[in-house]
Amino acid sequence: MRRIILLMSLMAASVAVAQQQSSPNGNVVLTFSLTAEGTPAYKVTYKNKPVVKESTLGFSLKKAEPTTTVNEPLTKNFRVIGEQKSTFKETWRPVWGEESEILNHYNELLVSLRQEGTNRLMNIRFRVYDEGVGFRYEFPSQKELTYFVVEEELTQFAMAGDHTAWWIPGDYDTQEYDYMESKLSEIRGLMKEAVTENVSQYAFSPTGVQTSLMMKTADGLYINLHEAALIDYSLMNLDLDDKNFVFQSHLTPDAQGAKGYLMAPCHSPWRTVMVSDDARQILASRLILNLNDPCAIADTSWIKPVKYIGVWWEMITGKSSWSYTNDLPTIDLNTVDYSKTKPNGTHAANNEKVRRYIDFAAQHGFDQVLVEGWNTGWEDWFGHKKDYVFDFVTPYPDFDIKALNEYAHSKGVKLMMHHETSGSTRNYERHLTAAYELMNKYGYNSVKSGYVGDILPVGEHHYSQSTINHYLYAIKEAAKHKIMVNAHEAVRPTGICRTYPNMIGNESARGTEYEAFGGNKVFHTTILPFTRLQGGPMDYTPGIFETEMKYVNPNNNNQIRTTLARQLALYVTMYSPLQMAADLPENYEKFMDAFQFIKDVPVDWQKSVYLEAEPGRYITIARKDKHSEDWYVGCTAHEGGHNSVLSLDFLDKGKQYEATIYADAKNADWKKNPKAYTITKQKVNAKTKLKLKAANGGGYAIKIRKLAN
Ligand code: NOJ
Ligand code: CA
Repeated sequence: MRRIILLMSLMAASVAVAQQQSSPNGNVVLTFSLTAEGTPAYKVTYKNKPVVKESTLGFSLKKAEPTTTVNEPLTKNFRVIGEQKSTFKETWRPVWGEESEILNHYNELLVSLRQEGTNRLMNIRFRVYDEGVGFRYEFPSQKELTYFVVEEELTQFAMAGDHTAWWIPGDYDTQEYDYMESKLSEIRGLMKEAVTENVSQYAFSPTGVQTSLMMKTADGLYINLHEAALIDYSLMNLDLDDKNFVFQSHLTPDAQGAKGYLMAPCHSPWRTVMVSDDARQILASRLILNLNDPCAIADTSWIKPVKYIGVWWEMITGKSSWSYTNDLPTIDLNTVDYSKTKPNGTHAANNEKVRRYIDFAAQHGFDQVLVEGWNTGWEDWFGHKKDYVFDFVTPYPDFDIKALNEYAHSKGVKLMMHHETSGSTRNYERHLTAAYELMNKYGYNSVKSGYVGDILPVGEHHYSQSTINHYLYAIKEAAKHKIMVNAHEAVRPTGICRTYPNMIGNESARGTEYEAFGGNKVFHTTILPFTRLQGGPMDYTPGIFETEMKYVNPNNNNQIRTTLARQLALYVTMYSPLQMAADLPENYEKFMDAFQFIKDVPVDWQKSVYLEAEPGRYITIARKDKHSEDWYVGCTAHEGGHNSVLSLDFLDKGKQYEATIYADAKNADWKKNPKAYTITKQKVNAKTKLKLKAANGGGYAIKIRKLAN
């Protein structure tokens, strides 16, 4: 299966004017050159159309005493001292994923550079795929550059026009924004509107945006900018020069304003440019996963996809609380004695309630039950830069950790651990070993972690280098304890789950929780697979059937912006090996026929077929179960709805199937009639064409069961 061909290697140490490498099918062409000043530059074309016009590369450096003496920028006076071209092709099998085999096929160009005058060495490695390009900076071991501090990475992405973009503001601390759709030239004018709702003091620039950034050109090219394998480096945002449509990297600073402490030999993460004239190919691409290293965990047998319910939505909607008592305006875990406090009567994570959730999970075939608010500290948990909030090991008096785990296990269910760190990474690291040991002791194998609030130590950001290192530390330590991690508010993923597949989830974008806080734009789920999901799965927490919050909490007047049928579709369109059925058991009990789809839908796949896709409008995906011959289809649509004509030619020829279609009823509408759905059954085969309609803000879900014939 594995095949590596070295085509051409180490050319003479001569200055090349321009070097090209093209993708295996020839559609994508990468050109490297040096400008007249000796500045490294690259450009990318797709089927001869410009994708990235000539864009320069380099770094400005900070003077780091006492080790760096030369802080002259790495921007000019470079000479090419070597070039290597090679081809790589292999298929690999992910532990879990959208398909059971992934092809990694690229042509590589490695350019070795030396800076005249300083003699410093910097290489740039390009990998050219049929769906785009990844490139990174590499610093070989050298006398002239060992320890250095990045002031800014100066990577440009020069766009060829005023493209349409689906963007959220650049930020050092939150990704939980609603998307904007606009021309690049309109970003500046819309920035205020884009940040208002989710005010962050670190939304830094009038034209700064986050990656993964999705764009469409006037002549129909789909372009996506992101990064892969973000390790020991700070996260990249993009600043737009909106006169010339040139993006430039803007790294996340640390508390000192530095953007990265590097020591050669080292390299940057990959910068990625994906491109296609068919939006479905952006969803089908595995470029970002492929740019990450292979799995670093030898035995992965303990890593298992998870379908779960949780004691969660009732806190999010404000019906009940994470905290145990209202007696304590502040807490000091060293001295507080909860047994002397009065229970507030709204604490959700109590023995009785958790048993009810366990019963419901067992009855309907869920693997796990998340319980938030099980541990002491929630009375005073964020917003005050408190270093020590949680110890992650002490349950509240009404949560019997031993008995509840035993009860769950007796019913074939596991509890899911919850570690809210309130952003205090140092406190979490102090308690991490004890916390994971406690999980091992009681038989938990997965944890949902979270980083709400300002990062501590004070001044650090959610996406600065040391915090990036913290997230990976937690994942690696978890692996030692055979624990799977689903981190909320952590840095948006960059394909690292290939290397560490115990990282089975992340939130790292605006999830369903915002529907209870005011709402997500109707088109949100038609964008996320093009952006946030490029780097890895999202714990979006779909499955809200009771679309009006007032029925959960009379004081919450929000309405989720979706139809009920679309909530089912999200289990297919929002790929994740970790899926929650987020609503309350009593709400599922009102719609048991629709709930059947959530019970049936798998969380691990053999194959995925991207049937229809247009960012901001609609996405329709078919996936084949990893462990059976059954297929599942999901469609999510924007405010204007969507009409589909689906050809089922992905089914086995000559075989018969039964389709169960969960669709919006004729008069359904996300706002006026969200819970109107129909469930119909019909026989289908590979020749069938299905005409289906998604309502405004609606969607549909189909289970296609293979019949024995
Ligand atoms: C924010 C997370 O996204 C949410 O899921 C969690 O319930 C709260 N933080 C509390 O940890
Ligand atoms: Ca969150």
